[in-house]
Amino acid sequence: MKGIILAGGSATRLRPLTGALSKQLLPVYDKPMIYYPLSVLMLGGIRDILVISSHQHMDMFKAMLGDGSRIGLNLDYAVQDQPRGIAEAFHIGDKHIGDDRVALVLGDNVFHGPGFSTVLHHSIQRLDGCELFGYPVNAPEQYGVATIDARGRLLSLEEKPRRPPSNLAVTGLYLYDNDVVELARDLEPSPRGELEITDINRAYLEQGRARLTELGRGFAWLDMGTHDSLLQAGQYVQLLEQRQGERIACIEEIALRMGFIDADTCYRLGQELTASSYGGYLMDVASRFTAGRAG
Ligand code: G1P
Repeated sequence: MKGIILAGGSATRLRPLTGALSKQLLPVYDKPMIYYPLSVLMLGGIRDILVISSHQHMDMFKAMLGDGSRIGLNLDYAVQDQPRGIAEAFHIGDKHIGDDRVALVLGDNVFHGPGFSTVLHHSIQRLDGCELFGYPVNAPEQYGVATIDARGRLLSLEEKPRRPPSNLAVTGLYLYDNDVVELARDLEPSPRGELEITDINRAYLEQGRARLTELGRGFAWLDMGTHDSLLQAGQYVQLLEQRQGERIACIEEIALRMGFIDADTCYRLGQELTASSYGGYLMDVASRFTAGRAG
């Protein structure tokens, strides 16, 4: 399966923070925002990943993540000139996807919770059409909204409905079979001029090939569109990391645990960052991993 991270957009709601910087490079406590969605794809075992961003910010993403080989990934980059909707990712990424399946994740979404990698693994394995992830929120009108029946079957999908039929938001992680490329090609822009991801999902729903997994209680799904939500996400990460001593979305650690890199490489990556506690953490993780293996 291929991966795409959509990290474009002008993020005007975050001005002046985003006057010169890309939103997806802003700090979420101890790491740049894009580490969080990147870690989601990595947990799904996905290593071929296309990062889509605006022309203006492309060099910064490349400087930060490079070709990905340091953490056992194969990263590519593509430009989205004007934000014309999430589903444009499949036009921009059609060569990258080729004849494979694809996971798309929005560059400002944090997913964190017990058993998430198992959920992801399951969803990827059973994928036949389209897999969505739902999460109950207080303000569903700001999101794509799903309704489900008593057995959890997906009934309807609407984009930012004025009167939401449920409180179940559709999160920014989407899994598709290869038909998505064709569906995106035929997609008409919505009245607000965008290629809506919800229209793609609805096309799958009409074919009876869309499923939704609920990420319920005890799970954290956060998006970071405003100053408050950005700070809250940082505080959430800070709280859990300080309490447990484990880092969330530490891409080097995930690369190690997924078998993309070995412990020596992880240790070396830590050594390069020894001035920061993040570097120390990587060295610790690598040492514990080696000791665990030996024991
Ligand atoms: C987009 C999607 C929406 C989804 C949300 C998740 O909205 O259009 O369906 O619920 O992402 O973050 P946007 O954030 O672009 O307004």
